[in-house]
Amino acid sequence: METRIITWNEPGFSPEESSWIKETIGKGELIAFPTETVYGLGGDGFNPGASQKIYQAKGRPSDNPLILHISDLSMLSDIAREIPDVAYILAEKFWPGPLTMIFKKKAEVPVETTGGLFTVAVRMPDHPAALAMIQMAETPIAAPSANLSGKPSPTRMEHVTADLGGKIAGLIDGGEVGIGYESTIVDLTEKEPLILRPGYITAKMLEETLGNVEKDPGLEGEGRPKAPGMRYRHYAPKAEMVVFYGTVAKQKETIRNRAEEYLKKGYREDEIGILATRESKQEYPVGRVLCCGSRQDDTMGHDLYHVLREFDGLGVRVILSEGFDDSPKAEALMNRMRKASGNHMIKVDME
Ligand code: TXA
Ligand code: MG
Repeated sequence: METRIITWNEPGFSPEESSWIKETIGKGELIAFPTETVYGLGGDGFNPGASQKIYQAKGRPSDNPLILHISDLSMLSDIAREIPDVAYILAEKFWPGPLTMIFKKKAEVPVETTGGLFTVAVRMPDHPAALAMIQMAETPIAAPSANLSGKPSPTRMEHVTADLGGKIAGLIDGGEVGIGYESTIVDLTEKEPLILRPGYITAKMLEETLGNVEKDPGLEGEGRPKAPGMRYRHYAPKAEMVVFYGTVAKQKETIRNRAEEYLKKGYREDEIGILATRESKQEYPVGRVLCCGSRQDDTMGHDLYHVLREFDGLGVRVILSEGFDDSPKAEALMNRMRKASGNHMIKVDME
């Protein structure tokens, strides 16, 4: 299949592009699109065939439910039943934006879309191309991240092309995304709002808005995570990856020492990857240093997935990574790094 690429330009799609999007989604075909978090792989959320195509294209287990993306709050009542007041409070404050809410689903939402569950995830993305596409399609757009299952989520159009080019009908090129990692998921079907996946909207931000908010104990390894997707291995680069966290100066010193040790063990310098920030990238004399963002403006998530993909391409054998436990977004960032490294995390202050 030839994948049509449409470049997103303000103020919006041309009339021809708009009708192609409407027709393509209407036929149950898939179009990848940018959001503020990561690229999504979109299909008609009310069409079970479209959801099946999404699972197929990604190689994703079909018991891992999809998020329905809406462009207007009025669409929520077509999807969810028993919408609690807190949902409107959160929507008012955080939508459009990187927050996904879980509700009981209406019968019209196919179980193919919800991975067999009777609950449904809903998000209003904060990206003009995504909102325009949903409006054109006139239906909620079911969309997981537009990567092959197990790979890092795509934050640039090249990542989508590498994973899904030729397998989907279309791709809207919106350049690099802003945030770089997936939305926060909060479950509103429990007694208290329950965070199932940490993201850009932090527990603190939710607590400031709602008062009490719980965290899924499964995220800390106590029992199974409630979000099926949080149970799978994710983002793992081909190389062994170790994350060092704690005092930043100590992180850098430890990584430098480790890099020297790998050299002594016979690794070539270009086989040693170092995941650093804009501030620290000059401070490593040994290794291939890539930088994922800046601590100063808290953008370490921006290129995290990009850099993990780059290291695969460079063929490094080990990735020594700085950790971001001091960031306001630490929960989300460290959660993704834990998954990428297979829980290989070392606290430097203890060494
Ligand atoms: O930022 C994002 O959320 C991106 C963009 C494209 O919107 N989407 C995204 O989708 O990350 P995906 O499919 O890669 O991750 C969705 C997560 C999975 O972990 C899935 O198990 C969980 O949401 N999820 C979806 N519906 C759920 C439900 N009804 N109950 C519990 N977890 C659910
Ligand atoms: Mg994903």
